[in-house]
Amino acid sequence: MNGFNEKDGILHADNVPLPQIAEAVGTPCYVYAESVIREQYERLAGAMTKALPSDRQPLLCYACKANSNIAVLSFLRSLGCGLEIVSEGELMRGLKAGFDADKIVSTGVGKQKNEIAACLDAGIHQFNVESLPELEMINTAATETGKTANVVFRLNPDVSGGGHDKISTGRKRDKFGMGVENVMKAFAMARDMDHVNALGLSMHIGSQVFTVESFKEAFEKLPALVHGLRESGHTISRLDIGGGFPIIYKDEKLLDLDSYADWVRDIILPLDTEIIMEPGRYLVGGSGVLLTEVLYVKETQDRSFLVVDAAMSDLIRPTLYEAWHSIDAVKNRSASPQTYDVVGPICESSDIFATQRSLPEMNQGDLAAIRTAGAYGFSMASTYNSRPLPAEVLVSGDKFSIIRKRQALEGVMDGETIPDWLK
Ligand SMILES: Cc1ncc(COP(=O)(O)O)c(C=O)c1O
Repeated sequence: MNGFNEKDGILHADNVPLPQIAEAVGTPCYVYAESVIREQYERLAGAMTKALPSDRQPLLCYACKANSNIAVLSFLRSLGCGLEIVSEGELMRGLKAGFDADKIVSTGVGKQKNEIAACLDAGIHQFNVESLPELEMINTAATETGKTANVVFRLNPDVSGGGHDKISTGRKRDKFGMGVENVMKAFAMARDMDHVNALGLSMHIGSQVFTVESFKEAFEKLPALVHGLRESGHTISRLDIGGGFPIIYKDEKLLDLDSYADWVRDIILPLDTEIIMEPGRYLVGGSGVLLTEVLYVKETQDRSFLVVDAAMSDLIRPTLYEAWHSIDAVKNRSASPQTYDVVGPICESSDIFATQRSLPEMNQGDLAAIRTAGAYGFSMASTYNSRPLPAEVLVSGDKFSIIRKRQALEGVMDGETIPDWLK
């Protein structure tokens, strides 16, 4: 069975009972099911295969900020993905996971010179450039290293997409991309640069984009711009149309991928370029749970709290985005329902996974699975309150493997020293 399902009254990841993982690895830990990642990849790639000719299939560059564990990256590489990175660390992870550098695209508003140099050294596919000074920095780094950088310019289409204010990236007021005027300037500047090859445009309007109309509205900004640039003698051979495909956390209505793919076919395909996409959350979000143990059932005059051993430091989405995550009891799943606030041990009132949630009655030592935690979960984890980073486990059918050991307590203080004058 694929994904997280009940078998013999116990929640499993594929065919592995979650209590077996908790026993072997401890809690809190992230558990990812390969089968779900494969299904999601096949869904997205399948929609594109259906809509576009075989020789015009997009390069799916997985946005590894969503989940950058090198085992997860290796699996996505084996499925055929390229990679979207935002730092030298992500570049290093990608190379370690065996990605061909020519399938890696570098994005982000604050690329540093050393990061640009590392990407040039590796020979990545392209830089998605977000500002004019960044273009100058790329040219400088490329000149110094004797390389030529392939670049595309990120258009800010002034379109609102994204399921939350903090994950919308395509509005004029957002820090991302450039308006049309600066894109034109960037092409003109690049023409005079010896170490930059300007090849096209990119865009990414946000995350959890539910309405296909938002994508369509953004895509529709491209044809006139592409034609205008070509008329001015610029090469437009690549269009990177970003990520943002949504998943279900609660009861959201999913984007119709086929309609999305049809808009790619109708608007992007005729522009006759290589097509790149940057899916992140869609590929991995549903593949993971954060497995946690109930430390205490705390009754107050007001309510019942389940104090669990996972915290906002392990999964910050509820705190940061008011995100809703489904929570499942791992055993005794048909016990009588109770209403709980599910909270972590951190000294912040915002360390809450769920408020007034109905769950089967739970007791100290019981396990709970916080679902849909495969994206922007571990990758956003911190050591706040000096809590070690949780372990990560990958499940494949009947087997599982620890793909990241729980951080050792000493590791939380790694690199810290007491100056001589305090000794
Ligand atoms: C440039 C870029 N591409 C792709 C993504 C992936 O977005 P999602 O996980 O919603 O697909 C992001 C997310 O922040 C991004 O900033």
